[in-house]
Amino acid sequence: MKFEKIQAPKGVREYLPPESSAFDWVRTQLIAPAAAAGYQLMELPVFEDTNLFTRGVGESTDVVSKEMYTFEDRGGRSITLRPEGTAGVMRAVIENNLDRGQLPVKVWYSGQFFRAERPQAGRYRQFYQVGIEAIGVEDPAIDAEVIAIADRGFKNLGLKNYRLDITSLGDAASRAAHRVDLMKFIGTLNLDEATAARAALNPLRLFDDKRPEMQEAMKAAPLLMDYLSAESSANFTQVLKYLDALKISYVLNPRMVRGLDYYTGTTFEFVHSDLGAQAGIGGGGRYDGLMETLGGQSLSGIGFGLGVDRALLAAVAEKSLPQEQFTSDLFIIPLGDDAMTTALITAQELRAIGIKTEIAFGDRSLKGAMKGADKSGAQYVVVFGESELSSGVVNLKRMRDGDTSSVKIAQLKDVLRETLSR
Ligand code: HAM
Repeated sequence: MKFEKIQAPKGVREYLPPESSAFDWVRTQLIAPAAAAGYQLMELPVFEDTNLFTRGVGESTDVVSKEMYTFEDRGGRSITLRPEGTAGVMRAVIENNLDRGQLPVKVWYSGQFFRAERPQAGRYRQFYQVGIEAIGVEDPAIDAEVIAIADRGFKNLGLKNYRLDITSLGDAASRAAHRVDLMKFIGTLNLDEATAARAALNPLRLFDDKRPEMQEAMKAAPLLMDYLSAESSANFTQVLKYLDALKISYVLNPRMVRGLDYYTGTTFEFVHSDLGAQAGIGGGGRYDGLMETLGGQSLSGIGFGLGVDRALLAAVAEKSLPQEQFTSDLFIIPLGDDAMTTALITAQELRAIGIKTEIAFGDRSLKGAMKGADKSGAQYVVVFGESELSSGVVNLKRMRDGDTSSVKIAQLKDVLRETLSR
């Protein structure tokens, strides 16, 4: 009987060797600046109570209304695969009283997120984000620091072709004043039922409507930026001053609407120019009412989520991936059982001091093993044969140019450490 092959679900992104090492590198580099700034890891469940997202992220959003993977678990509870990370962080902070200790609570996370979107290049149904959240301090300096951490992550990848879009959604008073005029303006438009319903939940959503006729209609709409209260305006100006001081350039984009409803105050998006339609490589902002909405105290917060899949695509497009990072330093080819024992011991010693070492396994010919060494991309190759074992000396071959040198097995460690550090 022949079984049918099973395929991965539609729209999921997998990373297999050799690409997976590039993915791993991108993810590590992107989030490294968070730890350097004192953010600590939070590992959270990938599924949560559905209410967390309907209430936290907002029902006017596509993310909640169209894209959630929601199901009933065996106990009849409504469960949703997390479409984003901020709501879960808030839930965990409130549930574990982290907000009763030292503020701000500063955390980072990394993992899979799920949105039932139409798959295309750079847009997946399971994708990866790294993110940070800083909760409990209202200070424009922390807004600037959060943005600077994201920017440093992209710079770590060697990216250049991106820009930072920024705006402010102001405080509650600013948004209330703007809403009155925006609703008046929207009342003059001829909207279909679904759009009108969306506008009633969150009128700002209409700025995000991609249909050309809506884009055209919204050109004359009043902008929130013109309604900022004196305090919100002063705050935002200060954020921009800090960014100037940090030499982080930005583009003011008062029409920017993020896809999640919790945003207030400073909001931003990083946009890459080589990625086509799915150009957003990261985004974030303040969410000053979120904690209260989720049953906690009234504390402010700010954070970002960076798309690891898209950052990798951007690094590929800009050819900024360091190729040599992903290959071994040494490939050992043992011939026979005794040689294998020596190879295992030697490899263990070399790996312990950080020299990436591979061994040719299985009963292969020398020719076959050399092919394996070639394919591995290792920088150096040694053969452990009978004569090498009895003399204790091997030929260390540099694959780049075939250059060989005689080295005592006992001294491989020192010789490699020396040549690899050059
Ligand atoms: P977001 O803008 O929805 O924000 O997602 C952040 C990033 O995740 C996007 O800029 C994009 O790079 C990536 N991304 C989103 N959806 C997909 C997808 N379907 N396929 C591939 N990549 C995707 C948030 O999720 C907020 N939680 C960020 C945040 C944290 N705001 C405050 N704190």
